[in-house]
Amino acid sequence: MESKPEIKLGLEGVYFTESEICKVDGINGKLYYYGYSIETLAENSNFEETCFLLLNGRLPDESELSAFRKTLASERELPAEIVSVIRASARTANAMDLLRSTFSMLSLYDKDANDNSEEANMRKSIRFMSKIASITAAIGSFRQGREYVKPDSSMGHVENFLYMLNGKKPMAEEVKILDLMFLLHAEHSSNASTFSGIVTASTLSDLHSSITSAIGTLKGPLHGGADEAALHMMHAIGSPENTEAYINDALAGKKKIMGFGHRVYKTYDPRARIIKRRLEELRGSADEEVKNLTNIALAAEKLMIDKLGASHGIWPNVDFFSGPVYTDLGIPDYLFTPMFAVSRVPGWCAHIMQYWKSNRLVRPLEYYNGEIDRKYVPIEGR
Ligand code: SDX
Repeated sequence: MESKPEIKLGLEGVYFTESEICKVDGINGKLYYYGYSIETLAENSNFEETCFLLLNGRLPDESELSAFRKTLASERELPAEIVSVIRASARTANAMDLLRSTFSMLSLYDKDANDNSEEANMRKSIRFMSKIASITAAIGSFRQGREYVKPDSSMGHVENFLYMLNGKKPMAEEVKILDLMFLLHAEHSSNASTFSGIVTASTLSDLHSSITSAIGTLKGPLHGGADEAALHMMHAIGSPENTEAYINDALAGKKKIMGFGHRVYKTYDPRARIIKRRLEELRGSADEEVKNLTNIALAAEKLMIDKLGASHGIWPNVDFFSGPVYTDLGIPDYLFTPMFAVSRVPGWCAHIMQYWKSNRLVRPLEYYNGEIDRKYVPIEGR
């Protein structure tokens, strides 16, 4: 019998490829998109420009950014059949299920669907950014009892998303904060949903199938679903005074506190720092609910860092402070994870297109620990 090899559960610590798209420095709590620190991009850039960077490896000049924006605006319409499916299911279906299902349907109406050329994949990457935003906005609009809002090509990507979601032109401040949230969620190296998309792509399947895999993977509460779960926890805690008892009870019951911990960051997630700062800034003008959520979040943050920070390397991650920010924007909790998908499409597509440049089928080994040559007993004798 062969000796049992070392098994890396969850591929923890395994490098499966290399890339210049994103560096996640888990020890120092740093994040870079193509060498630009997340702080630099958050301060100076915007979501559309950052998407261009992720898809092209460099920042655009003015004419390139203008053309990129025009293409995004031209790709927002949804096929009528898909609007009908969303209208029929938005009130009852899980929002991520509906996003995954209707995104996958898009391939039926896309002439590029099975064209795997670099040019077609770049067209589809930009197309998906707009389509997933329109689908997510339509889900929110129908679920809140309104009709499908046709996109407005005169608006920017984030502005149009909020317009299609709420049926009214958003305020500049709302666009600014959501643009930052999308930028912070746009890319994160070989996270589970990106890896899942790459596994599908590595068989030389197509980009629709790969992104459908990624959306399904993002749904899980250990990954993209944590933002909604963290907000539910804050509502369950109810007040800052209840925070310590709630968290101590959860930890005693070996429950995971959503929005904390990370496979790579063993210190503060730099994205969470930026989101926390914005949340503290908007707290002054926020309504009582958001103020209370913010105070609960800050109490939970302090408690968790005191208890598990330095000792266990468990710190706030990108999902922890997002909920109160989205709540302040009037965005319902069931849209948090679909919005994570809206943000992450450029990161998914960038990695998949890069992987295809030197494609290798992803096929790891599984150590067999069962019997060999068992005797077959006919059913009469069992
Ligand atoms: C994202 O990969 C990415 O980059 C993802 C992401 C991206 O941008 O794409 O950054 C986005 O997914 C952020 C993570 C969102 N998920 C959550 O917030 C869910 C809660 N977090 C945990 O489930 C956990 O921290 C993970 C899943 C994020 C990471 O887990 P690991 O690396 O598999 O670590 P583990 O579960 O083995 O935990 C090690 C120990 C365990 O204790 P023991 O069993 O050894 O005693 O730490 C404990 C865990 O119980 N632990 C926690 C905890 N996270 C880990 N205990 C309480 N609360 C937590 N949140």
